[in-house]
Amino acid sequence: MANSPKPTLSLLISLLSLLSLFPPTLSSAPKHAPRFLGKFSRSNNKGPLGAPRYKYETRYFDQTLDHFSFSDLPTFRQRYLINTEYWAGPDRRGPIFFYCGNEGDIEWFAANTGFVWELAPRFQAMIIFPEHRYYGESMPYGSFEEAYKNATTLAHLTAEQALADFAVLITELKRNLSAHACPVVLFGGSYGGMLAAWMRLKYPHIAIGALASSAPVLQFEDIVPPETFYDIVSHDFRRESISCFNTIKDSWDVIESEGQKNNGLSYLTETFRFCRKLESADDLSNWLSSAYSYLAMGNYPYPADFLMPMPGNPIKEVCRKIDNCPDGMSILQRIFEGVSVYYNYTGTVDCFNLDDDPHGMNGWNWQACTEMVMPTSSSKNISMFPAYDYNYTSDEEWCLENYHVKPRPTWITTQFGGHGFKNALKSFGSNIIFSNGLLDPWSGGSVLEDISETIVALVTENGAHHLDLRPSTAEDPDWLVEQRAAEVKLIQGWLHQYFEKKKTVFDM
Ligand SMILES: *[C@@H]1O[C@H](CO)[C@@H](O)[C@H](O)[C@H]1NC(C)=O
Ligand SMILES: *[C@@H]1O[C@H](CO)[C@@H](O)[C@H](O)[C@H]1NC(C)=O
Ligand SMILES: *[C@@H]1O[C@H](CO)[C@@H](O)[C@H](O)[C@H]1NC(C)=O
Ligand SMILES: *[C@@H]1O[C@H](CO)[C@@H](O)[C@H](O)[C@H]1NC(C)=O
Ligand SMILES: *[C@@H]1O[C@H](CO)[C@@H](O)[C@H](O)[C@H]1NC(C)=O
Repeated sequence: MANSPKPTLSLLISLLSLLSLFPPTLSSAPKHAPRFLGKFSRSNNKGPLGAPRYKYETRYFDQTLDHFSFSDLPTFRQRYLINTEYWAGPDRRGPIFFYCGNEGDIEWFAANTGFVWELAPRFQAMIIFPEHRYYGESMPYGSFEEAYKNATTLAHLTAEQALADFAVLITELKRNLSAHACPVVLFGGSYGGMLAAWMRLKYPHIAIGALASSAPVLQFEDIVPPETFYDIVSHDFRRESISCFNTIKDSWDVIESEGQKNNGLSYLTETFRFCRKLESADDLSNWLSSAYSYLAMGNYPYPADFLMPMPGNPIKEVCRKIDNCPDGMSILQRIFEGVSVYYNYTGTVDCFNLDDDPHGMNGWNWQACTEMVMPTSSSKNISMFPAYDYNYTSDEEWCLENYHVKPRPTWITTQFGGHGFKNALKSFGSNIIFSNGLLDPWSGGSVLEDISETIVALVTENGAHHLDLRPSTAEDPDWLVEQRAAEVKLIQGWLHQYFEKKKTVFDM
């Protein structure tokens, strides 16, 4: 694509000054590294959750702000959700199921992680959903505004601090409940899955095993090719329909050249029914790119309200719309019909908003500007997106400009490993499940092969982003039922082994 848009930092900056707190996340993809993990980081977002579907008690815990220094910082209130209804109790060593809260309001994750709730009665387990620091209600310095003020106040938003929070919380909770001997099993999806896997590696004395679903622990530095994410999204469309794939691939040039015409932006604004006039054609391209990416992540076999309300097999639906438009309909109209499946499935949208994150700055952008540097590019020959190369320098400039912070792209692999992950884990790690669905664009950065007998990969060809953690439904295909059954069996094995060892010690 000769005239595909160039990375336009100035565009981002101008948007920033225009909207003051405009988030770079979606608007900047794909020219910027995509940050699709940040979708839930709508900080103080209460969201349209409705009444919780699971029963829990909400508690708060005074948490240390900096676990790695003895500086005199104020503590903060960490929120956690707890259910002890099914728990066998300390005497019978009832297990503790612990979901590693990720980048967002913990109630949202609790509502979307039905698997843990369904499993707990069977294992007579306690359930705990702790919130990740700097998200939801778990704000240092008393409020979102104070916590997100500047690089100094944000400094303690790191994965290591979050893991230490979990470790301290579990340890103290066990002490309070005299539950020292109760085994802890970790769960997590996406970034939460990364945390679960890392927690098992860093704190093996605290948790006996981890189910890490859709956890791209290898999406760092050059461990996997930077184009995997968009190549997988593109593959998801291609497998449904080549003409759909081609229509999307051809649309970028059309959008770009339309944007350069007189009144072109007005035309694009009308065609795509935006509430306010487009500032640039890139904004439209980014809006579309992010829809395609989320469609790939949420490409579930049944209707769901995960990222947005979507039909079952949503990419199939999008492609059906694009392909079935009457002859003579323009590429842009086809694209509009297709993307409406994502942005207007409920049919209740009057006009579209470009900036779909009204809460401004979000924590994931900070994390992406510090530790979570996940290189992304778009390949010329496989991707349906405009081709672009990963440019670390431009990301770094963006971070310095917006957060006054310089990323440390090699820190995560230094801290948690990545290069030679398999060999390292084979000889010292155990009891981790990496579960993935190959339709999920993040699967390319995860672990797709068994590392050892106890660090195993459960891969489904037709799964999407942590589908296995969702509540079971009557429409679950066999392969999903089997994947979950395999997970249950492995977790049973860990618990069995733990109890056996305890018994041996006891008998001695
Ligand atoms: C950040 O904000 C805090 C709290 O208001 C203030 O004490 C500190 O000096 C600020 N730091 C920077 C680098 O601006
Ligand atoms: C443990 O109990 C103490 C004293 O009641 C309480 O302050 C603390 O929050 C409890 N810890 C947890 C993790 O709930
Ligand atoms: C959303 O869908 C409804 C129902 O099909 C339609 O009336 C409405 O115009 C659509 N909104 C936009 C912005 O396209
Ligand atoms: C895509 O391009 C790369 C580098 O230009 C090349 O190595 C690779 O074989 C190509 N793949 C396909 C499917 O054409
Ligand atoms: C990467 O971005 C920097 C900063 O925006 C720019 O100066 C440089 O030319 C870019 N490199 C490439 C290869 O495009």
